[in-house]
Amino acid sequence: MERIVIEGGFPLKGTITIGGAKNSAVALIPAALLANDVCTIKNVPNITDRDALFDIVKWLNCDINQDNSTIMIDPRNLKNVLITEELSVKLRASYYFMGVLLGKYKHVEIYFPGGCNIGSRPIDIHLNGFKALGAKVTKKGHKYILDAEELKGNTINLKFASVGATINIMFAAVYAKGTTIIKNAAKEVEIINIMDFLNNMGAKISGAGTDTIVIEGVENLHGAKIEVIPDRIEAGTYILIGSLLGDNLKIDGIVPEHNKALLEKLSEMGVKYQLEEHSIIMNKSEDLKPINVKTEVYPGFPTDLNQPMSVLMTQANGKCVMEETIWEKRIGHYPYLQKLGANITLDGNKATIIGKTKLNGTETNATDLRAGAALILAGLIASGKTYIYDIDYILRGYENIINKLSNVGAKIKIEKI
Ligand code: EPU
Repeated sequence: MERIVIEGGFPLKGTITIGGAKNSAVALIPAALLANDVCTIKNVPNITDRDALFDIVKWLNCDINQDNSTIMIDPRNLKNVLITEELSVKLRASYYFMGVLLGKYKHVEIYFPGGCNIGSRPIDIHLNGFKALGAKVTKKGHKYILDAEELKGNTINLKFASVGATINIMFAAVYAKGTTIIKNAAKEVEIINIMDFLNNMGAKISGAGTDTIVIEGVENLHGAKIEVIPDRIEAGTYILIGSLLGDNLKIDGIVPEHNKALLEKLSEMGVKYQLEEHSIIMNKSEDLKPINVKTEVYPGFPTDLNQPMSVLMTQANGKCVMEETIWEKRIGHYPYLQKLGANITLDGNKATIIGKTKLNGTETNATDLRAGAALILAGLIASGKTYIYDIDYILRGYENIINKLSNVGAKIKIEKI
């Protein structure tokens, strides 16, 4: 077993470079299988979710070549076989093979996806979208069989602007006959990255980044290239770390516009930062004002930064409120923050955090990816040593996090026990 050990309290200076966006890469890798020739994806983050997708791509008999963060996927010998439960439960994004294989072969057999335990995570919006295009959905236990004689474009009004369903319906619709219109589509910037990749292959999609996406079906998609956009959640996590411990800490390779909601909240708190075109310089701020945050779909405050943000709130002078509206169980880190000494009262998904509190290192568990990130933030400011167990959750989504932090002066390491 491995655990992360952090000795807190050290200022951080130097540069942290942001990698490719997890939530974009995990859709771009399956998307490559829609093409009929080799695709190249640049800036793919080195995370275990990537490796879990590689296992599925190889299982489907496609070759992958890798040159650092650039990967080449060859789908020409794809065999559309059942994706086993062992493969699908390793991550949430295995559900993208539903849209991709249904779109290309009109048939897919796959098990229910895995992912962090942050809520019930149904896939009804995805399935209703596939049905609207003409697919028949059969469920046998945890296994899904999707079949269609042919897929026909339709107007699909999403009951919630789901990121995964928006992307999955785009995948299923690229080869469908006629026009598909997705209304109340998710507007996350990752969806623009996916649209660009599909259009580079020859798809005819417009509107990603707005709430209406239009897909004109095509008959062939050729090989194409794409670069994964910078990870706004990784960037946000390090920006929050810089707010707590930065000594001219530079976070490089970001798109400031993608972190607008976070930066507005930091300004409200009185955090000191300087923005440059593709980077931001962070300095520790002593006198933080209390704020209230409610998570929302993009461009609102991102749910994926809720947990790291709640650690900064423990250092504000007064009462902060953090309210989660997307996931019903994004609260796994709170008992551990309390154990570290934070003053937090939970009411369902709403946390009232009263600061400023001194945190003291202790033993903790990462209950999900962003809970793990929050515990790293807490450990970095706590006195003494903080131990984090179940670190696989963290490594599934933060590339080289130990090195990135050690290189700027953090005392953090992975220890075998
Ligand atoms: N929902 C349904 N039915 C569906 C799909 C979603 O009810 O068919 C509900 C969910 O239960 C949730 C809400 O809609 O309450 C939002 O879910 P969404 O589909 O937008 O989330 P997702 O696509 O499963 C992606 C990211 C998450 C991120 C959310 C929201 C991936 C692989 N995951 O999930 O990332 O929190 O969008 O932005 O892209 C993370 O990185 O920590 C993470 C969990």
